[in-house]
Amino acid sequence: MSKGIYITATGTDIGKTYVTGLLVKLLRNSGINAGYYKPALSGAAVVDGEVIPGDCKFVADTAGLTDQPHTLASYIYKTAVSPHLAAQMENRPIEPVVIVADFAKAKQHFDYITVEGCGGIVCPLRLDEQTLLQTDIIKLLNLDVLIVASAELGTINSVVLTIDYARNQGIVVKGIILNKYDDSKFLHRDNKQVIERLTQLPVVACVGTNATDLAMDAKILCEYYKEV
Ligand SMILES: Nc1ncnc2c1ncn2[C@@H]1O[C@H](COP(=O)(O)OP(=O)(O)O)[C@@H](O)[C@H]1O
Ligand SMILES: [Mg+2]
Repeated sequence: MSKGIYITATGTDIGKTYVTGLLVKLLRNSGINAGYYKPALSGAAVVDGEVIPGDCKFVADTAGLTDQPHTLASYIYKTAVSPHLAAQMENRPIEPVVIVADFAKAKQHFDYITVEGCGGIVCPLRLDEQTLLQTDIIKLLNLDVLIVASAELGTINSVVLTIDYARNQGIVVKGIILNKYDDSKFLHRDNKQVIERLTQLPVVACVGTNATDLAMDAKILCEYYKEV
């Protein structure tokens, strides 16, 4: 039986990929067969005619995964817009059955799978005759979530709203990871305390700017992953 967790964030560019790279690295450095999966990626770069899924490459490079980056995502779009729009523009609609099947393959391959979502919790993957939201994918994969959030001013509002929305959708949030955290800043320390108090959830890790490792016990991290 494999275990998994879904990484979402308070928004796009908050640090899901950066933090996920460190999470997978920590697990792998502890001897765990840990992997990565991204249901849909938009904004892939094209280098010498080859489409490079940047998030998959970053995590593979950071965590020492030998898998080819393009095998770690189900849908890769070049257009740098929300997946529902990229899928429409590139004429390749996202099929939930494909995501479920690819996640099942990832489960055969890895013992601990960290799934990176797109954007923030409210991210449409398909808005044609079907409505497919990121929350549908989280529920289909039967995963709990960790929320990556900034340590900066404004984060309390973003975190509380994100968690409230997730909970209203019936999704279990296990905790928060504060990114670009600086323990010497009173504001960052206060944000951490206030977030824990208002959400009644733990800030499970704080990641500094340019951190190369996650300051966390791998055994504790494993406890946040759920059997899938
Ligand atoms: N802790 C950090 N230290 C340095 N750079 C970071 C850190 N977190 C994120 N970044 C940078 O910020 C940008 C956005 O982060 P990324 O992880 O790609 O966000 P997301 O996956 O949520 O869209 C990237 O260029 C990334 O390298
Ligand atoms: Mg990303």
